Amino acid sequence: MPIEFAIEPDLSSTEFVDLLERSTLAERRPVKQPETIEQMLRGASLIVTAREAGLLVGVSRAISDGAYCTYLSDLAVDSHYQRQGIGRELVSRTHAAAGLATNLILLSAPAAQSYYPHIGMTQHDSCWMIAGSTRTKAPPAAEHQPAGVAGPSASPSAQPPAGTKDAVGEFFDSIAGDYESAIERCFPRYPEMLWALLEYLPTSLKNPRILELGCGTGNLSVLLAQRFPASAITLVDLSADSLANCQRRLGADLRFTMEQADMRLLSYPDEAFDLIVSTIAIHHLTGVEKQELFARCRRWLRPGGMLTFADQFSAATEENNSRHMENWQKISRAAGASQAEWSMWMEHQAEHDHHDSLTDQLDWLQRAGFAQLDCPWRYLLWTIVQGRRP
Ligand SMILES: C[S@@+](CC[C@H](N)C(=O)[O-])C[C@H]1O[C@@H](n2cnc3c(N)ncnc32)[C@H](O)[C@@H]1O
Repeated sequence: MPIEFAIEPDLSSTEFVDLLERSTLAERRPVKQPETIEQMLRGASLIVTAREAGLLVGVSRAISDGAYCTYLSDLAVDSHYQRQGIGRELVSRTHAAAGLATNLILLSAPAAQSYYPHIGMTQHDSCWMIAGSTRTKAPPAAEHQPAGVAGPSASPSAQPPAGTKDAVGEFFDSIAGDYESAIERCFPRYPEMLWALLEYLPTSLKNPRILELGCGTGNLSVLLAQRFPASAITLVDLSADSLANCQRRLGADLRFTMEQADMRLLSYPDEAFDLIVSTIAIHHLTGVEKQELFARCRRWLRPGGMLTFADQFSAATEENNSRHMENWQKISRAAGASQAEWSMWMEHQAEHDHHDSLTDQLDWLQRAGFAQLDCPWRYLLWTIVQGRRP
């Protein structure tokens, strides 16, 4: 059946939301807020639709003054209808209807950036924004993504394993305000660990597309932004409060896309990233979950891309493990951690942490298809590993 395009100012919010969900854009739009959705539709200057036999399969929603600028806010194509040129046609018809004399502007998801040159758009290097205040707690990406061109994110229907998000996410929500100082007391040689993770990145990496898993309040994210000023960085964390702190530190920096999501449920297109990083987050996954994550990371990386993470690993023997724990406690107490604080971390560890050995994790990385495996830094439990997709 042919695809029919039309301008539909009266498009219903039910149809709009249904399409957003079929296109994955729902993850980054307020689909659970019917009044906002209704206002988005009724306040739009232009809504261009694509339908096949009446079924809505694509939509473009824009705000325009009709003379100088047109902001294309939402472009969504049903995932079953992607890569047929519908997105390009919607952009073209939106521009034509708004007035070809207007500058057509949109914000892209990092993973979709390669699409826009392909449809004749040029990148602007000084776009700035202030995120809307009602959305700052769990900052959704302030980006536009033609769903299916490339698309980050957790499956909207997927649920975290029972209790996990509440327990781990809420724990980090509860300590987000004090997290930076807690690190100084309880994570020995943490700055050195971040330095080492960055120091041992391949020097050939230029402006990489980066995924950071479990970014917390953004300690590594800030350093990544400094090291790679022209990179696009996707930050993922379970904890809304940690992400809100991270957002405050990073400001309205368009290089970052933030997603409050469980890293076990993420899905991205193959080869969406050049570099995947994480610091002290992956140990919240069980051994099986780590293996699944490593396999997915390999697919998300382009050939030659690197997965590197710093985390808490167990020692090879019980004896060494006990020695690590004793030393960790001594060092933390000397750095000012109270007995109560130490106990709090130990309770968290007993309930939610899964320390696996270096040999196991290197083996899992190899089985997941990584090569050039290495461990460039280690101190007590804290270990950095890296592997590259061949
Ligand atoms: C110890 S903090 C580390 C934060 C940050 N990477 C750093 O170096 O400061 C662990 C972070 O991992 C996040 N986290 C734990 N499990 C996660 C999961 N399954 N998916 C996403 N984030 C997770 C927590 O919410 C928390 O912010």
